[in-house]
Amino acid sequence: MHLGLIGYGNIANSLIALLDKTAVTKVTVLVRDTSKVSDRNRNSDPEMGPPIGFVSDVSAMIAARPDLVVECAGHSAVATHVPALLQTGVDVIIASVGALADAGLSAEIERAAQHGRSRTILPSGAIGGLDFLRAVALAGDVDVTYRGTKPPAAWQGSAAEDVINLDQLHNAQVFFTGSGRKAALAFPKNANVVAALALAGAGFDRMKVELVADPDAIGNQHSYEVTSDICRYNMTIEATGSAGNARTSVTTVMSLLHEIRSYQMPS
Ligand SMILES: NC(=O)c1ccc[n+]([C@@H]2O[C@H](COP(=O)([O-])OP(=O)(O)OC[C@H]3O[C@@H](n4cnc5c(N)ncnc54)[C@H](O)[C@@H]3O)[C@@H](O)[C@H]2O)c1
Repeated sequence: MHLGLIGYGNIANSLIALLDKTAVTKVTVLVRDTSKVSDRNRNSDPEMGPPIGFVSDVSAMIAARPDLVVECAGHSAVATHVPALLQTGVDVIIASVGALADAGLSAEIERAAQHGRSRTILPSGAIGGLDFLRAVALAGDVDVTYRGTKPPAAWQGSAAEDVINLDQLHNAQVFFTGSGRKAALAFPKNANVVAALALAGAGFDRMKVELVADPDAIGNQHSYEVTSDICRYNMTIEATGSAGNARTSVTTVMSLLHEIRSYQMPS
């Protein structure tokens, strides 16, 4: 399989290190600037894994003819690159699911996939239980309340800084309460789990979200409560942040790896 990756940060590098060398024979990475990529990154030793090529625009990625592309760059990269790939028939796994909170972009992606007879794959990412939530939602309205708790450092560079002083926090503090849509749009780098839950069950506008900075939090904690006519349940995941990016849980990398493997070997 020839795998395409959009972005060459924490997730992309972690995935490359975990790829099955016999199943993935070539990797093409879309980066912003190929001049910043060294020969060492290109992986010319087959013992170390598949050869890695770098391109800097989506037309070059399309011309490279990948079998599957994984977007792992961020919300703006979904808007810039994903529709063109889908339109030309390339299937795409979207890690930045939160981008789909933008109704216009979501419709554009759906149209592009229809036109190209391709599909988007939405991974569960850092959250779990989406299969069960989708099933419960078939029985009617479902209320989902999500609470995302991370250490202050993991919220740095986000809109949380406009509300609280992350450097001076001694106790856990809720800094955002609102709908799933508001959360996904205001915290694009942290709210992908919100989008995954919204798309699986309550929808962006009905779902409730609380975001918390907690100096005692060791990793990233995702918990949610589901109430419907047929059941009630709650779920909590305590996940370790990636070495390369504290905001991204290692579970997200594993979820993407699982989707790549399922694509190669559909059950
Ligand atoms: N679904 C989930 O649960 C979940 C969880 C964590 C992260 N994510 C998503 O995955 C994304 C990547 O995570 P990460 O930990 O690898 O982040 P990262 O910041 O380590 O890496 C992202 C890389 O993408 C590059 N990039 C950004 N825009 C680009 C563009 N238009 N074209 C090419 N490259 C571009 C950046 O320069 C950076 O190198 C996050 O932004 C987030 O949206 C999803």
